[in-house]
Amino acid sequence: MQPRRPLQRTLRNAGFVCAMALTAGTSLAVSAPVVPARPWMNAALSPDQRADALVKAMTQDEKFRLIRTEYGAIFNGQPKPAGSKDVAGYIPALPRLGLPAIHETDAGQGVARPAAFGDGDTALPAGLAAAASFDPPLARDGGVMIGREAHRMGFSVLLAGGVDLARDPRNGRNFEYAGEDPLLAGTIVGAAIRGIQSQHVVSTVKHYALNDLETGRNTLSANIGHTAARESDLLAFEIAIADGQPGAVMCSYNRVNSVYACENDWLLNQVLKRDWKYPGFVMSDWGAVHSAAQSALAGLDQESAGERFDKEVYFDQPLRGAVARGEVPQARIDDMVHRVLRAFFAVGAFEHPAAEAPIDYAADARVSQRAAEAGMVLLRNEQGALPLDKDSGAVAIIGSHADVGVTTGGGSSAVKPRGGSPVTGVEPSTWPGPKMYQRSSPMQAIGQRNGGKVAYAGGEDIAAAAKLAAQSKVAIVFAEQWVAESMDVPTMRLPGNQDALIAAVAKANPHTIVVLETNGPVQMPWLDQVQGVVEAWYPGAAGGEAIARVLFGEVEPSARLPLTWPKDESQLPRPTIPGAGLAAIGMPPQGQPQQDIDYDIEGADVGYRWFQKKHLQPLFPFGYGLGYTTFRYGAPTVHTSRGQVTATVRVSNTGKRTGVAVPQLYVTPPGADTRRLAGWQRVTLAPGQSREVTIAASPVRLASWDPTSHGWQRAAGSYRFELGASATDIAGKVETTLPAAHCTLAACTPTTP
Ligand code: BGC
Repeated sequence: MQPRRPLQRTLRNAGFVCAMALTAGTSLAVSAPVVPARPWMNAALSPDQRADALVKAMTQDEKFRLIRTEYGAIFNGQPKPAGSKDVAGYIPALPRLGLPAIHETDAGQGVARPAAFGDGDTALPAGLAAAASFDPPLARDGGVMIGREAHRMGFSVLLAGGVDLARDPRNGRNFEYAGEDPLLAGTIVGAAIRGIQSQHVVSTVKHYALNDLETGRNTLSANIGHTAARESDLLAFEIAIADGQPGAVMCSYNRVNSVYACENDWLLNQVLKRDWKYPGFVMSDWGAVHSAAQSALAGLDQESAGERFDKEVYFDQPLRGAVARGEVPQARIDDMVHRVLRAFFAVGAFEHPAAEAPIDYAADARVSQRAAEAGMVLLRNEQGALPLDKDSGAVAIIGSHADVGVTTGGGSSAVKPRGGSPVTGVEPSTWPGPKMYQRSSPMQAIGQRNGGKVAYAGGEDIAAAAKLAAQSKVAIVFAEQWVAESMDVPTMRLPGNQDALIAAVAKANPHTIVVLETNGPVQMPWLDQVQGVVEAWYPGAAGGEAIARVLFGEVEPSARLPLTWPKDESQLPRPTIPGAGLAAIGMPPQGQPQQDIDYDIEGADVGYRWFQKKHLQPLFPFGYGLGYTTFRYGAPTVHTSRGQVTATVRVSNTGKRTGVAVPQLYVTPPGADTRRLAGWQRVTLAPGQSREVTIAASPVRLASWDPTSHGWQRAAGSYRFELGASATDIAGKVETTLPAAHCTLAACTPTTP
């Protein structure tokens, strides 16, 4: 452990001297309140009062120091700023005011920039796994874990909270996000943010907004009508922000309806700050700023690492000039600073400054393992192939370096494994790589359960792998898809020879299981030939152990797909992505081929709603996932009380094992042609057990965005409520007439008494 920084020590003890209470008999001269030296350190004041007090005490130079960060790591051979912790964003301390340095680090799956600390950190599974758990408290636990690690390394900001919707399975960053449904994604990400911030670390929510593809991300315009945006991507942000209260919103690289997100008045001033009353600050993505006055006036509060990634540092001399010329009012600068400061006050960062402290990595790995187990989706299980038995016989482990580790994604969010990647010498070795594996061996974990009867074949030599499979009782093929920030994948096919490998192994051994470690949906031309398929996503620091526990039934598969699994690209709103596979930055070949993307093709009908609208059958629907037992759903009923609609359904475990049902409530408002997820529950049931499950409908999922009143309005009429095990497996439905109402995230209020 390194010694605590002197500044932080000063801050702990510093600060305010509380006004002493006047007591009877004491003379005024003795007991007059001591004027606080630093009134903003009075934790009894609200974050806004404290920020006001501090802004008042600041010079213009100090204010300008808080509205831009510097890149805090070595860049193209140039040194990092003195005092920075090898981070993505850094602001030096302001000792005169008792302000500690600000160190910002990536990202949502764990602390991604630990170089200053030598070894790696604990990686959670992919964001899609968190979403697949349909379990907000578990997502919160993950947030607590990574927030605590960040705090104990001295980082004050985690660049987490990715909640862009999965509109396309080829998006290279889907693994950082939480799927295609705004209610599920917003709820899961909001819970994770809340967990992070409980550790006195500010979290972002990102990338605001519609950064739903990486191809051409620095220039493309995501075009979409305002109402459709409000009911899809922006709703995910609205929910995540309301639930998580992140200190910062990171605006994205792309343009939205032709205007760059970080200088987009509609996105920042109107939607975020006016309609959602967001009190925190907007920070730019790295290289996403294109102007000074325009950005500041549109609502951007802090420029990130502009000296490295923008054409110039806009939020220094250019913005000072704009203020001097009267183009930007001084009040706006004060507002920017206020917003930055209140974010740190709100999480208690001044009372509990981030400081180096020991980390219990073993305990943190257990948190990651629980998240991985709860996030794995059992997609196929023919003839009871799973769970495996310890006496199932020799198991062939094939492909994806499953002898030593599990796959990860690349880019800024990549968490370096503790002990380093167990696989070296694989491409790419530079940004958005290096391609890394988490050090948790599925083969070892499986071997520990079946008496060591495991053997490994790499999979490059298909004949050798098939031979090993033929000699084994069970073959498990690990199939991987490495993707990374800054690029999309051109197709949904598994890369390399993996389709052929799986087909050959399945031919050699009918008892073949495929474990996918992918960014999400891939084509499965071999699906009918294999007995089992498990989607493990990128399963994180303890992924190997988690996979083995699910395969052997030590833990019940309980996750459900947080996104639709198309058969192939032809079913997507955009069958091709022009230029997909070209990197926006970094790895050659580079390119910016796509300039505009029309999201009005599907509008708010993202994912399962698109499939319903177009009468398409996916390979697996949203919300789908098997367990090792079976459930029966009774007929649902719907009740309305004080503006809140709830549905009740009896769920019974009809199988022989304890399992987890995830009943899902969908609603179709009058006149709509697609259903929307309105709520869900997770319920654990023993064999033969049945239970009444009550699910509250999200008020805004019953409503539509009304651009005239700037609010969510529920029309009077007949609403169809459906309860089921997925977006297409509907067990029962009920129609209810509801009156017109004005709705918020929390409740609906009828507009006519
Ligand atoms: C990514 C952000 C990340 C930032 C800082 C950008 O390239 O888009 O998600 O937080 O870099 O590393």
